[in-house]
Amino acid sequence: MSEEKRRSWAEPFKIKVVEPLKTTTRGYRERAIREAGYNTFLLRSEDVYIDLLTDSGTNAMSDNQWAGMMLGDEAYAGSENFYNLEAAVGKYYGYSYLVPTHQGRGAEHILSQILISEGDYIPGNMYFTTTREHQERAGGTFVDVIIDEAHDPESTHPFKGNVDLRKLEDLIERVGAEKIPYVSVAATVNMAGGQPISMENLRAVREFTQLHGIKVVLDATRAVENAYFVKRREEGYADRSIAEILREMCSCSDAATVSAKKDLLTNIGGFLATFDEDLFEEARSLVVVYEGLHTYGGLAGRDMEAMARGMEEMVEEDYLHARIGQVEYVGEKLLRGGIPIVVPIGGHAIFLDAKRFFPGIPQDHFPAQTLAAEIYVDSGVRTMERGIVSAGRDRETGEHNYPELELVRLAFPRRVYTQAHCDVTVESIESVHDNRESVRGLRMVHEPKHLRFFQARFEKL
Ligand SMILES: Cc1ncc(COP(=O)(O)O)c(C=O)c1O
Repeated sequence: MSEEKRRSWAEPFKIKVVEPLKTTTRGYRERAIREAGYNTFLLRSEDVYIDLLTDSGTNAMSDNQWAGMMLGDEAYAGSENFYNLEAAVGKYYGYSYLVPTHQGRGAEHILSQILISEGDYIPGNMYFTTTREHQERAGGTFVDVIIDEAHDPESTHPFKGNVDLRKLEDLIERVGAEKIPYVSVAATVNMAGGQPISMENLRAVREFTQLHGIKVVLDATRAVENAYFVKRREEGYADRSIAEILREMCSCSDAATVSAKKDLLTNIGGFLATFDEDLFEEARSLVVVYEGLHTYGGLAGRDMEAMARGMEEMVEEDYLHARIGQVEYVGEKLLRGGIPIVVPIGGHAIFLDAKRFFPGIPQDHFPAQTLAAEIYVDSGVRTMERGIVSAGRDRETGEHNYPELELVRLAFPRRVYTQAHCDVTVESIESVHDNRESVRGLRMVHEPKHLRFFQARFEKL
């Protein structure tokens, strides 16, 4: 009997346009990162070889999306592209009402201003930086109600994005349901390592909060990738389409904020969508103050068209298999090389566990920030700190927040890099790991007031 041969799979697209990359020397990169204050956000993009800083807005659009860009109706009011987008949101997410915004945080801002009053509490399945900032600016306090496993990088729970209903119940008992305007549910959970929430858990959150008159707001920025995990991991979903699962997820919420720069395969855009007519009316009136008229919300007509067309592509299973498969490929290679990463491997990114990578560097010497800088110096691969710097300071005490997870994120732009880029990245991380004993931490020498991770500067210890 012949042994079954391994069959490889490849991306369901080919390259039509290329963007040349600059290669640099180690000495050049040492100077560049020093001048950037050891903060990868402050590097010039032309000095980066493989850019895994973020999967946000870095996607390669399809020929069909680019063709749509030429059909931009740039009217101030009533653009045709808005109506295309509205129809696509209804079809793929199921929401009845749409308010476009320039990107995800525009929608978070408007939603927070409408729903949150001074002294409110906003439970969520782990914080996201901009989401929490807007909740706090509106007078709310974020409360983490994610399951404990999410804070453990070694736990292999298949749905580490799940909400712990006991934590939610405790909060309701402590502060009262009237102080909780909504539960903020992210799918997938970026800061936990791109981990999904199960449909069963989302449905349970919905049923539980309905008993208390509390809304559910989905951060559906990567809900399509979440739907892929539901299909792969959750009983009863194997034969359902991604589009069906996505709609079912959204049906468990009152509203969603979305950064179109991820799932939707565009370079800019966002929206707030809802089933709730009152919320919609308020959002529609507020969007004109901060973003633009309600039929463009800070976007060009062509951007809305690219979003509408991106939605058709985002739910294609072959595409998602290649997209999440690429992240898996890198993760499995790193695991085989003995590199500590968050497991299970997430949807949009690999997260290196900097605490285990550099056990000798204390958290207030910024091990993840250090690791991101070291990887850049080694190979020109740009990654992002997701640890103590991103977690900011406690508003009351002024002390650093010390998150359990001290991570470096390698986020993969959609449809951009090849398997060879992935191999170069893995080899670079292995090389930094081999030399880990010689690495010291950093000290912060400039700390911005808001979302400090974007612009903080460091020096080597
Ligand atoms: C989970 C999540 N929510 C919200 C946002 C904010 O979206 P934007 O960057 O488009 O403002 C992001 C962006 O990274 C995100 O990852």
